[in-house]
Amino acid sequence: MTALTDSSAWQTLSSLATDIKTQHMRDWFENDPERATKYTQAACGIELDFSKNLITDEVIGALQGLMTSTKVAEKRDAMFAGDIINHTEKRAVLHTALRNFSGKPVMVDGEDVMPEVMACQDKIKAFVETIHQGERKGYTGKALKQIVAIGIGGSFLGPKIMSEALKPYWFDGVKVHYVANVDGCHIQDVLATVDHEETLVVMSSKSFSTQETLQNTLTAKDWFLRSGGKQEDIAKHFIAVSSNIKAATEFGMAEENIFPMWDWVGGRYSLWSAIGLPIALTIGYDNYRALLEGAFEMDQHFLTAPAEQNLPMILGALGVWYINFFGAQSHVLLPYYHYMRGFPAYVQQLDMESNGKRIAGEQTPTDYETGPIIWGSEGTNGQHSFHQLIHQGTVVIPADFMLPLNVPNQDDTHHAMLASNCFGQTQALMQGKTFEECKADLASKGLDESELNSLATHKTMPGNKPSNTLLFEQLDPKTLGALVALYEHKVFVQGAIWDVNSFDQWGVELGKELGNQVLDKLVNQGAALNFDASTNQLIAKFRAANQ
Ligand code: F6P
Repeated sequence: MTALTDSSAWQTLSSLATDIKTQHMRDWFENDPERATKYTQAACGIELDFSKNLITDEVIGALQGLMTSTKVAEKRDAMFAGDIINHTEKRAVLHTALRNFSGKPVMVDGEDVMPEVMACQDKIKAFVETIHQGERKGYTGKALKQIVAIGIGGSFLGPKIMSEALKPYWFDGVKVHYVANVDGCHIQDVLATVDHEETLVVMSSKSFSTQETLQNTLTAKDWFLRSGGKQEDIAKHFIAVSSNIKAATEFGMAEENIFPMWDWVGGRYSLWSAIGLPIALTIGYDNYRALLEGAFEMDQHFLTAPAEQNLPMILGALGVWYINFFGAQSHVLLPYYHYMRGFPAYVQQLDMESNGKRIAGEQTPTDYETGPIIWGSEGTNGQHSFHQLIHQGTVVIPADFMLPLNVPNQDDTHHAMLASNCFGQTQALMQGKTFEECKADLASKGLDESELNSLATHKTMPGNKPSNTLLFEQLDPKTLGALVALYEHKVFVQGAIWDVNSFDQWGVELGKELGNQVLDKLVNQGAALNFDASTNQLIAKFRAANQ
C-alpha cells in the first residue's frame, strides 16, 4: 500500500464504488429532476454538464475529500508561485506566466520574469505585423507570405491544432504549412508547394536538438540554397523559436530572429510562448492574444473557484474516479465540431506525456493506475467507427463531448443534426436499452422465442456509460484558450492526486538514444550488428532493400 491507497479518502471511494456499481444512472435521473441542474457548472464561457456520470452527492464529497487529502489546492498554488515542482529537472512550471495579465510579478530564481515574457509578446506582435503588412521581404524583394513551420510534439501540435480550430479567424494572404515527421515525404510535399523567394521557415525547438526538427530544417535550408538563395540570405528566410540561443545562432539564425523560450515552460505547455508564433501568423496577433486571455481567465477560475464549481477539479477528480475505481484505462474526447478534429491529438500529448508515469513522490512505485490513454476524433465520424465499443464493449470508457452552440457560416439543418447526434449519443450511453425494451421492439418480427431472446440479448445496450458534455457559444480564440487551459489544469489535478511529476518526460529518452544507435548501422552498411536478433534482422532487411 502507498500513502494514497492507504488513505481514508481512497478507502471511502473504494467502498462507494462497490455500491455505485449496483445502481443505474437512468434511475437517478428518474428519481431526481434536479440532477442535470445540480451537476452542471460553467466558467469562462464553457458550460460543463457532468450529470451523466456515475456520481452521487456522496461520491462528489468523497472526491473532494481525496483532493483535500492529496493537497491539490496547495500544489496548484505552488505551481503558480513558481516553486520548483518539476523536481527531477529542478525547474519551476510556469506556462501560466506566459498568459499572466494580472500585472503581478512572477518570480523565478528571485527575478520577475514578466518583463521578458511581455517583451517576447511585443516581439511576436511586431513580427506578425511586418509579415501581415507585407513589409518583411525575402532576398529578391518579395513579401514573405508562405510560412513553413517546422517542429514536432509540443512545438507542432499546439500551433497546428489551434490554427486549425480557429479557421474562421485566418488572416487572408499568409499561409502556414506545418512539417513535423522526419519522413521525407512530409517536408518534400510542403516544399513542393511554396516559392523559396516568398517563404519564411520558422524552426521551433525548445531544445534545438530534436532530430526530426533539425533534419527537416537542414533539408529546408538545402532546398533554399538549391533554389537560388545564398548563405547570406538564410537570415532573411529562417528564424527560430528556442531556449538554446547558442545552437540556433550556430545553425545560422540571426540572433534578432530567435524568439526566446524558457526552461520553466514544458514543450506540451508551450503554445502560449513564441512556439505559438505560427498561430499568431495564422490568425493575427489580436486573436492570438485573445487565446492567451482565455487561458488566463481559466487560470483565475482554477485558482479561486471552490472545488464544487471548479471545472479542472471536477474533470480531474472524475477521471481519477473511473481510472482508479472502475478500471478505465482510456478516456475518449469527442469534439462535435470539424475544426476541432485535432483536439484529441493535442490532449494526447498534454495528458499522456504528463501523467504516463509510474513513480510517485521521490521514488515510490505506484500501486495504482495513473495516466489514461487519450484518444478520440471529431463527431459525428466516431459514431460510424468506434462508438460500438463504447456502447456495448466490456470496459468503461469515459467520454468528453464538446459542442459549439453556433458555428461560423452556420447551416441550421447541418448544425441541428450535429447537435442532435452529440446529445443523442450521451443519452444512449447513459440510459442504454434494456433486454425487455429490445424484446418488445422485436415482438412483431415473427421470431420464435429462442431467436427473440438471442437477438434481444445482442441488441441490449447496458447504458450507465459515463460522459461529460462541454458546451460553448462558439469556438472563438478566447474560448479555445480557456478550453485548453481547462485540460492543462485537469491534467495537473490528476497528477497532483497521483503525486507523479507531470512535467518531466524521461520516458522518451531511451527510444531516441537507441534510434540513434540504429541509425548509425543503417547509414554504415558495413557496421557490425550487435543488437538483439530481432533488431539485427530488421536492420539487415532495411540494408538489403536500400543498397
Ligand atoms: O521528445 C518529447 C519532446 O521533448 C516533447 O516534450 C517536446 O514537445 C518535443 O519532444 C519537441 O521538443 P523540442 O521543442 O525541444 O524540439
